[in-house]
Amino acid sequence: MIQGHGGNKQQLADRIGCRLEDIIDMSSNLNPLGPPKRIHAFIRENIHLIHALPEPDAASMSKGFAAYYGIDPGCVIAGNGTTFFIYTLPLALGAKKALILGPAYADYEDACAAHHVKTCHYLALAENNFVPDLDQLSTDAGRADLVFICNPNNPTGTLIDKQELKTLICRHPDTCFVVDESYLPFVPDAEEFSLVTQTHLPNLVVLSSMSKIFRIPGLRTGFLSGANALIRKVMLHYQPWSVNALAQAVIKDIYDHPGDILPFYRQTREFIVKERRNFIHALAGTDGIRLFDTPVYFVPARLDRILAAQLCRRVGHDKFLIRDCSNFKGLSDRFVRFSLKTNEINLALAQSIKTALAKEYN
Ligand SMILES: Cc1ncc(COP(=O)(O)O)c(C=O)c1O
Repeated sequence: MIQGHGGNKQQLADRIGCRLEDIIDMSSNLNPLGPPKRIHAFIRENIHLIHALPEPDAASMSKGFAAYYGIDPGCVIAGNGTTFFIYTLPLALGAKKALILGPAYADYEDACAAHHVKTCHYLALAENNFVPDLDQLSTDAGRADLVFICNPNNPTGTLIDKQELKTLICRHPDTCFVVDESYLPFVPDAEEFSLVTQTHLPNLVVLSSMSKIFRIPGLRTGFLSGANALIRKVMLHYQPWSVNALAQAVIKDIYDHPGDILPFYRQTREFIVKERRNFIHALAGTDGIRLFDTPVYFVPARLDRILAAQLCRRVGHDKFLIRDCSNFKGLSDRFVRFSLKTNEINLALAQSIKTALAKEYN
């Protein structure tokens, strides 16, 4: 359950003998611009909320999300991070066999294993830029009763068109599709890709994490949206007060100011487009590494001559923590992922990578 996640800052700090705060974490996928400005002040002013129980079902938080997307509040559940839903869905939906579109976030498989649900993978290939063959995916989906699709995908960044996903979902009415849109708000024109409003589809649930885009993973907040019949099944497994009082209040406050949300998304998206371009440009022509362009701010890469673990070790000496992707099913010990930060840091990482790779050629 806790095997499949990113790097460990403390481990790197201990290994190279530096302070934890000196480690530059480019292994975890969080908004490089930080949270919306209002959040810190809001928490300071509302700390008293922890002295009382919050709403048991976080209903006001769900209503804020539902209003923002123009969907029925009965089609939304607020959770203690999307992780809560990932680990609840296989049980709540009574799944027997799940298909995972990979290479993907490991918790889908771990969640199924926790409930003794069999899993199989459709693995998109690096040779095809990780773009899945949707006909093959459809054939495999027909053999499962639960399908996990991360859109855009972590760690490959692959983004599937909304209409193609809807066609796939409608073709298999007896299969429930979980579409994880945790990274979608980072994508320019994300609204064109999102399935959040498709609550009329009876076999779809969408996961929306607040952790990544608002950079508040420590608050543990996320949403599940979908048809009311599916919501009711998940609610049977919902523990009261599972979203804490401050977390509920922060998210409600975000949706109480809907006019601030899109500008925040736009600022983040523009920043990412620019920084991803700069980072890819800085490594262009470097021997021994192939970067995969993505619509998000994490960039997967394949190494030709050294192992992921070696690159992690070498850039680790410069205090950069990057993600060794060798434990993603469908990737090998040659894959790494860089989660971009500010311009200066990204360019320093590019330089560190170049130096690390140059050692193989001298
Ligand atoms: C694809 C994906 N989905 C969901 C999560 C879980 O996020 P949270 O529980 O913070 O919403 C992560 C975390 O890294 C992730 O990468």
